[in-house]
Amino acid sequence: MFGKNLLARLALVGTLALQASAVAIGGRSSVPDGIDVNKGHALMPAEGDFYITPHSSYSSSVGVLGCKVNVNNMAYWPEAIGCDDICIEVSYEGRKVTLFRVDNSVGAHDISFNAFNYLYTGYPATDKAHIEPPKDGGITAHYKTIDPNNCRQIINGTASGKLPFSAATSINYISNCVLNAPNSWVAKNFELWNIYDSQCNLGYNELCEIPDFKAGFNQAKCPHQLGLQDPLNGQEVWDIQYPSGDFKEAKRPGEP
Ligand SMILES: *[C@@H]1O[C@H](CO)[C@@H](O)[C@H](O)[C@H]1NC(C)=O
Repeated sequence: MFGKNLLARLALVGTLALQASAVAIGGRSSVPDGIDVNKGHALMPAEGDFYITPHSSYSSSVGVLGCKVNVNNMAYWPEAIGCDDICIEVSYEGRKVTLFRVDNSVGAHDISFNAFNYLYTGYPATDKAHIEPPKDGGITAHYKTIDPNNCRQIINGTASGKLPFSAATSINYISNCVLNAPNSWVAKNFELWNIYDSQCNLGYNELCEIPDFKAGFNQAKCPHQLGLQDPLNGQEVWDIQYPSGDFKEAKRPGEP
């Protein structure tokens, strides 16, 4: 259980993040040089150009579960992730990809290798005959923040079609959205699972009950104890390696 102080701090951060995403969704072309005070990450204008590089290992700093989404359509960008600006379209030479932006832990503007190779060559990285790493490592592409409903087809492992999160590790992000941006897409489209890590190697493959955030609760109720880190099998995340195009399962240390 978290104290009132933490919730108050989260509320403050949430307000700032919310203002940023409201501006982004509103379609204005630039956000003032904002910084997410929580993480020190820059906020993101609604659209623009970035130098984009490929990314091969799925991760999610906000706790989205890789075993229930298509990890080939992800963006790993340093800017803070709000409750509405989580879906982007990236375009290059007439081609475009739709990506969930679920990780802001990296310093560069990475996107899944499969999506990157498609933008650059017109072929996905699963088509190994057409993998072609650019000479200087990346490409300058245009991005646009779009309605997250456009990203819904990337969620391919939940019965409800809602975005699956780790109940143990995503609760700050989720409670912030629910309390401070109750009409946001994330607040209305999340599920909590008792899977501990985004690579789905630890925990239990079970849905949890959403806590009553408004009443001050911050822990989901799951069939097993919340946050157990027992080995979890059968919920695999398949990364496409750069630049080989080989599939590789994201395993926990010591997993055979
Ligand atoms: C979901 O996407 C992943 C790629 O991350 C793929 O391996 C998996 O087969 C897809 N699942 C379904 C049910 O389409």
